[in-house]
Amino acid sequence: MTARVVISRTCQGYACRPSSPLRVARGLWLESSFKLNFDRTPCFWPRHPVVTCFGALFVALTRKALAPITHTRYRWRNMLVQEYVGKLARIASDFVDLQWGITIQSLVDIAPRARGRLLDVGCGDKPYEDIFRPFVTEYVGIEHEATFSATSAQNYRKKPDYYYDGKRLPFEDGSFDTVLNVQVLEHTPHPGVLVREMSRVLKPDGQLILTAPFEFRLHEEPHDFFRYTPHGLAALCSEAGLEVVFTEQQGDLTTVIGHKINGYLALRVARLQSVAQSVGKLGHESADAPKVRWWTLPIVAPTMASIALAARVFEKAFHDPQNALGFLIVARKVR
Ligand SMILES: C[S@@+](CC[C@H](N)C(=O)[O-])C[C@H]1O[C@@H](n2cnc3c(N)ncnc32)[C@H](O)[C@@H]1O
Repeated sequence: MTARVVISRTCQGYACRPSSPLRVARGLWLESSFKLNFDRTPCFWPRHPVVTCFGALFVALTRKALAPITHTRYRWRNMLVQEYVGKLARIASDFVDLQWGITIQSLVDIAPRARGRLLDVGCGDKPYEDIFRPFVTEYVGIEHEATFSATSAQNYRKKPDYYYDGKRLPFEDGSFDTVLNVQVLEHTPHPGVLVREMSRVLKPDGQLILTAPFEFRLHEEPHDFFRYTPHGLAALCSEAGLEVVFTEQQGDLTTVIGHKINGYLALRVARLQSVAQSVGKLGHESADAPKVRWWTLPIVAPTMASIALAARVFEKAFHDPQNALGFLIVARKVR
């Protein structure tokens, strides 16, 4: 009899709080233990209403008094977390994104060839400015207004200096020493026109540094039209009065396979588009990203890291000249 009264009193305590599986389990456990210990009354909450009111008042006043300190502490903590977690996320994402890593490495290697006034055509949020700045006197970025406004890069910190309609670059003939064009040529339906325009704004003997994909998933749709071989790039350059003086294969079989699998895991399985965009990547994609599947990460993240590591190791071990993620060319203006 005593046990019944105790149980109902204790259960009142639970009834005023939202129930959860844990609390239900705890209630059941208590009930079973009462059956064994009839004479014990566990006390989780102060029972007397006056004691409860004073307790609640004390907690509320203490929290209010400490609010300025805890608020500042959390602000600092959030800033630190954002700063370091953001940087760590960026480093991790650069490591698993094989295409990005290889493109950056090619551009770092080729940057000392750049000189004078540089025009970055299809510059996006100018992710390569820091690489080329030390070698040029001026870095100017231009974007196709209509296609750029559909990407998330328009919300990023760095902006293009000029916008145009994608037909005629708004510069005099021969006004630049170097033209940079990174992963843009697949996005124009008239690549020959764009290469001719880039050639027109180059000074005689000026150079075009261009990268274009050979194997890459559909992106920035519907503005995704072509993929390129080194021979196709050479033909486009030749028609525009440019001579290819350097060609570099970017990645090979293992990196292509690794990049495809990692791309699938990151974008289809874990849906990490918004995470990548929050650390300044995938700027060329729409800002309208799907919800991240965080619960997949314990499996997806280590798998992607292992694939990236294996692809980097085997790329060095087994070279395959017929498979590549893309190509980088340097072309000199000859007329
Ligand atoms: C894949 S993004 C690359 C952006 C940047 N170069 C990078 O590597 O991060 C392709 C960019 O090309 C731009 N684009 C497309 N057609 C263009 C054109 N005809 N002239 C200049 N830019 C163009 C798009 O607006 C888009 O920002």
